[in-house]
Amino acid sequence: MSTRKKITITTLFDKVRKGEPLTWLTGYDYPTAYFHEEAGIDMILVGDSLGMTMLGYDSTLPVTMDDMIRHTQAVRRGAPTAFVIGDMPYMSYQPSVETAIRNAGRFMAETGCDAIKLEGGAEMADRITGIVSAGIPAIGHLGLTPQSASALGGFRLQGKTALHGKKIIDDAKALEEAGAFMILLELVPDRLCQMITERAENCIIMSLGSGPRAHGQLLIDHDLFGLYPKFTPRMAKVYGNAGEVILNGVRQYVAEVQNGEFPRPENYFGMKDEEFEELAALLD
Ligand code: KIV
Repeated sequence: MSTRKKITITTLFDKVRKGEPLTWLTGYDYPTAYFHEEAGIDMILVGDSLGMTMLGYDSTLPVTMDDMIRHTQAVRRGAPTAFVIGDMPYMSYQPSVETAIRNAGRFMAETGCDAIKLEGGAEMADRITGIVSAGIPAIGHLGLTPQSASALGGFRLQGKTALHGKKIIDDAKALEEAGAFMILLELVPDRLCQMITERAENCIIMSLGSGPRAHGQLLIDHDLFGLYPKFTPRMAKVYGNAGEVILNGVRQYVAEVQNGEFPRPENYFGMKDEEFEELAALLD
């Protein structure tokens, strides 16, 4: 079990001040969180991407607060010292500031996570202010925001034009001024990410597919290990093919059960002769 000290917001800002890039992955379950923690990851995002990666939906929209709470609790148990972030699912914060505060509060009280993340720019600044005023650390998310994928024209690069780039820069400022201590930039051009990072005063900027010039990097865990069968996005690097390991392992298991190779004596338990004989007698 990891013996490192709990990662806090102070730890994260200290690392940024020292120029140490922050490491961040999504995680949705206890065993994966355990391995993330052992490997020394700084942060784990329990993303509503779990709707796609864990639950098999085609989008993140059907994910509920109850889904998020259950998975975030499991991640917290697996990674006691990592900085764990609960991702606010669709319609858990859009309707009103009050809804946003209530659901952010549920995350903190019921899961023990360290912060929450929500999607959107200046139009969500009042949600961020409300949540932060309730004493809950909040993270913004700009660029490709999957909950609005339909309005954004699909899962594609955002901020390609000067005008759109300026809007994202303004949104980042609005979120920082509203109290977000961190902003995730998903799928924006690298130079736009750099400009926002350079302009951030008291806010950590993280990149997901937005290039190296942020304070750190986020990737979707399933993309790193070949665990999402539908596709692997260009922004991900595959570090190992766990999907292939599982597929080959299951094929071998099926074959061994069918041909009688499994189970072997070391995989099951016997019974003492006298107990077996007494049992047989009981049935006579
Ligand atoms: O849900 C998620 O995993 C996310 C990432 C795409 C950033 O929000």
